[in-house]
Order: sequence, then C-alpha cells, then structure tokens
Amino acid sequence: MSKSVISKPIVPQNNEILMRDDAFIVTKTDRAGKITYANPIFIEFSGYSEQELLGQPHNIVRHPDMPRSVFDLLWNTIKAGDEFFGYVKNHSKNGAFYWVFATVTPSFSPRGNTVDDIVGYFSVRRKPDRDKLAIIEDLYRDILTAERRRNRHDAVAAGTEVLNQALHTTGKGYHEFILTL
Ligand SMILES: Cc1cc2nc3c(=O)[nH]c(=O)nc-3n(C[C@H](O)[C@H](O)[C@H](O)COP(=O)(O)O)c2cc1C
Repeated sequence: MSKSVISKPIVPQNNEILMRDDAFIVTKTDRAGKITYANPIFIEFSGYSEQELLGQPHNIVRHPDMPRSVFDLLWNTIKAGDEFFGYVKNHSKNGAFYWVFATVTPSFSPRGNTVDDIVGYFSVRRKPDRDKLAIIEDLYRDILTAERRRNRHDAVAAGTEVLNQALHTTGKGYHEFILTL
C-alpha cells in the first residue's frame, strides 16, 4: 500500500463531480471507522485504488467544508446502535468534491444487537436533491463559522449549538428535519 500517496495533503478544488441518479456509493468500516470494503463507485469517486483505501480511516475523503459537529452527531448516533442520515461533502484524491445523501448504520454480530455486538459500520449514499442541498450548504456554513471562531476543544460544542438552534426554529429533531427537507 502506498501510504506516501495518501498522506499527501489534498488541495480542495472547486470542481464538482455529480453522482448518477441510479448510483449508490457503499463502504464498510470496522468499529474504529477504518475502511474494510469499498464498492466500485466509491473507488471511482474517491480517485484512490482499492488497495489505497482498504485499512485507511474514512476521513481520507473528508472535505474541510464539513462541520465537525455533524461527524460528532454521526458517531454518537451509530455508536449508540442507531442509524444516521445526513448530507456529506467529500473530496476526491485530485481535490474535486461531490455531495451525497448518506445513511450510516451499525453492523451487528450474530450474537445480538446491543452496542456491545457492533462489529463495524456500513454506509450507502445516493445523489442528493439540489434544492435540499442549498438549505444544507447554508446550514453547514453557519455551523462551520461558529466552529472556526472557537478553539479545537470548544468547536464541536459551538457548532452543535448552532445546529440545535436551527432545529429549534423548525420545531423538529435532527432526523425529522433531514428526512423532511
Ligand atoms: C461507515 C462510515 C462511513 C463514513 N463515511 C464518511 C464519508 O463518506 N465522508 C467523511 O468525511 N466521513 C465519513 N465517515 C466519518 C469519518 O469516520 C470521520 O469521522 C469524518 O471524516 C471526520 O473526520 P475526523 O473525525 O478525523 O474529523 C464515515 C464513518 C463511517 C463509520
């Protein structure tokens, strides 16, 4: 595996790549979020080879425009054994970006379906609606601004506060808001 290629910093570019209407991007991870499976469409969009992806932390595709608070919510949700839905902006190896509507779900061992039985996670992503994305982009920008005003330690709390305020004005919980956009 060519680690040197992966550790090279990615310079975000402004070119967007769009998902096809009928495409699904699928990955699986272990409990720590290291990639254990990537379908051909994820490999295509990421710009990495399968060998470069397997074993890497999933933040290999993390775009700097994504608020930390959203990933904090994602991990809190899936570690509790629940399913997470959300809009995610990822980047490719060449710096291009693509938006997805993602679901991330725990995989349980045959033993049972408590949090102790979680063996890993899997995610399925499809092309997001453009009009819904416009709302999400504004929201993420506000969250990110709040996060960047604080130091690393307080960033998630500040971003989460902005997210919760936005939810409060809609009168909806996070998942109800996301699924009824
Ligand atoms: C199954 C699964 C799929 C994930 N998919 C993505 C993804 O597509 N893009 C992304 O940036 N993070 C994804 N994450 C979250 C990353 O693990 C990570 O929390 C995130 O990139 C933020 O990186 P950081 O924790 O280093 O700040 C996924 C996590 C899991 C468990």
